[in-house]
Amino acid sequence: MTEAEDEAGRAAQQWREAAPGAVLLDGFHALKHALRFGAEVRMALTSDRAAALALAEELADDVTDRLRAILVEVPGQVLRELLPRIHPTGVAALAVRPSAGSNLAALNAAPRQSPVVVLDNPRNLGNIGAVIRLAAGFGATGVVTTGDIDPWHPNVVRAAAGLHFATAVERLGLPDLPAGPLYVLDPEGKDIRSTVIPDDALLAFGSERHGISPEMRGRATELIAVPMRPHVSSFNLATTVAMALYHWLPAPGAGRI
Ligand SMILES: C[S@@+](CC[C@H](N)C(=O)[O-])C[C@H]1O[C@@H](n2cnc3c(N)ncnc32)[C@H](O)[C@@H]1O
Repeated sequence: MTEAEDEAGRAAQQWREAAPGAVLLDGFHALKHALRFGAEVRMALTSDRAAALALAEELADDVTDRLRAILVEVPGQVLRELLPRIHPTGVAALAVRPSAGSNLAALNAAPRQSPVVVLDNPRNLGNIGAVIRLAAGFGATGVVTTGDIDPWHPNVVRAAAGLHFATAVERLGLPDLPAGPLYVLDPEGKDIRSTVIPDDALLAFGSERHGISPEMRGRATELIAVPMRPHVSSFNLATTVAMALYHWLPAPGAGRI
């Protein structure tokens, strides 16, 4: 057995041992964001190390050195055995999931500088990922989900391009929501254009199928709506989050983004 085969065998074994409970970073972009936002990345595999490093040089030279230090090349066949599917960039990595304690500390820190997005029993993994990506991009404090879907599910992490590490992502029961005025987005609410969303707001959004739950509605400080033409029932969940966060966004020069 060559030295390279030996290393690949060891890496595959380490991956099998580390994968349960770890966060799967599927593809170069998820890995890039995880490295940028302080994730503890355990290991990264590729079937073409030169191509992955060239991609890093081209798109994200700020992470190239760290990538070089952790990236192990394994044969394509090994990668296919380890992964449910191979990302077009041919890169996958495993990172440590932040503890609930560290997420809760971030979500409950006071005074809060930016809203927490609350998704009330979301059902679509792609939507949840898109919302986490928005929250990260807008500098929201975090994303809390209620219901039975784990917001760290691999398909959510993939849809969020690994930006879970740039905001606090946690699943909580309704009674455990962070403190703060609760602005519930609902087509029946008051026009968002006449509302100022405070920095410490919780911005809650309903599920794709059933909308806001009666329990969440009952806790609302205010119900607010993004206006729509007559006969349009609702917007997509993630696009509504985008509009609400954009409406909150402080003026340029406020030192946020
Ligand atoms: C796809 S919609 C849910 C539609 C659902 N059939 C219903 O009855 O509400 C998902 C969530 O996006 C938000 N949303 C969608 N359109 C909205 C609008 N025009 N104004 C405020 N919130 C909206 C709400 O929070 C809603 O619960």
